[in-house]
Amino acid sequence: MTLWSGRFSSSMDTTLWDLSESYSFDHILYHHDIMGSKAHVRGLEHARILTNEEASTLCGVLDDIEAEFDRGAFVRVGSDEDIHTAIERRATEILGPLGAKIHTGRSRNDQVATTLRLFTRDAIGEVLRSIFALVDALVALGDANELAYLPGYTHLQRAQPVLLSHHLNAHAWALLRDVDRLGDARRRCNVSPLGAGALAGTSLDLDPQIPATILGFESTFANSLDAVSDRDFVAETLFDVALLGVHLSRMGEELVLWTSSEFAFATLADQFTTGSSMLPQKKNSDVAELARGKAGRLVGNLTGLLVTLKGLPLSYNRDLQEDKEPLFDSLRQVMLVLTALTGAYRALSFHSSTAQAGADDQALVAIDIAEDLVKEGVPFRQAHEEVGKLVAESVASGETLRDVVLRHQEYSRFSGLFDVGTSLRRRSSPGASGPLARDEQRRRLDERVRTLKNLLEGET
Ligand code: ARG
Repeated sequence: MTLWSGRFSSSMDTTLWDLSESYSFDHILYHHDIMGSKAHVRGLEHARILTNEEASTLCGVLDDIEAEFDRGAFVRVGSDEDIHTAIERRATEILGPLGAKIHTGRSRNDQVATTLRLFTRDAIGEVLRSIFALVDALVALGDANELAYLPGYTHLQRAQPVLLSHHLNAHAWALLRDVDRLGDARRRCNVSPLGAGALAGTSLDLDPQIPATILGFESTFANSLDAVSDRDFVAETLFDVALLGVHLSRMGEELVLWTSSEFAFATLADQFTTGSSMLPQKKNSDVAELARGKAGRLVGNLTGLLVTLKGLPLSYNRDLQEDKEPLFDSLRQVMLVLTALTGAYRALSFHSSTAQAGADDQALVAIDIAEDLVKEGVPFRQAHEEVGKLVAESVASGETLRDVVLRHQEYSRFSGLFDVGTSLRRRSSPGASGPLARDEQRRRLDERVRTLKNLLEGET
């Protein structure tokens, strides 16, 4: 018998049961559901619907039920439709009529919204911690290879030399924007829907502020219809996680390239690679490929939820139950990728000699010659044209750009620009890829990490 079977003369068809039960996936919400229920009980106590003693007894039993889940000892019975009904059924089984009072003035509609907000708030906290750990690993890899540089690319064609630390920091900045966005999403989780009831509140004298304060929510709902139907916080979290996944997938693709024999810029530690079942020589960069591949699933989860929400009339509709699996899946997958990538970067060997050989490609000095002509007063477009001609000559003759420059007396004063590492050192404008700009960037990065950590630690 379900908790709502009163008005029905026959039980649910098994096919509908299979379609509609959600316990099989929402049982992981037990901790947050019990948190919400205990706060609701205190609200009932405050309204004198429950005596102090009744409220304490109920909260004690809810703690016991939580301990059953923690120990893996909670037994689901056939009629437990979802985590909410399972916990209420168990409380009533233990306490009889007192357990049956727990749902007073509440609906599963405001209950599930409350539970999911509490869950998402905590889950975002875990993702934030894992992003900071990855940022730390990227910065540490740059520090460990302080002088290393590589070619910077546009269109995947060698463009200009960049320090490895500058390159890795580019990923760190993107990740810190993810932190900022997720922090925002978490702030918007922090509104309590408890007290909205099924859709229109209650005639009982319940103050939504009481449970909201206990649960550490920043505010309470203003509109009961919005409170039970709003899943923006799930959609937003899924977007933020999908964009984070897109950043991780770009890092994954880069590691795939760097660890290929063609690039050979880096080697993943053995413990972050796999072998081939057939080809004995293979060492595959699966960690990077999965980081790249998971993004598809994260984007899919976001898309799926948005389509579910589109066109839903107010207020609660059972469609909303479809919010959970994409949310759980995205959070789990992104945590797996974040932690595995962090380990992979921590154990990565960077081969500066190969990478630097690419960055020392003489063609990359073309812009330095053009910029020195500019310093002598030549308009940039004209300088670009002149150096372009030198490059064309070098391509046609097969000579290096340096040899072409030396051959032309009017340009031979620029030959020093070809000295190894010169072009990199000259990239000194604010935020640029060379060593002088790096220290300032590092200061800004450290400061941004500190600011975000302080900001986010102050919040729940
Ligand atoms: N398991 C349901 C969900 O996740 C709980 C709410 C059910 N409410 C209802 N009126 N049937 O959305």
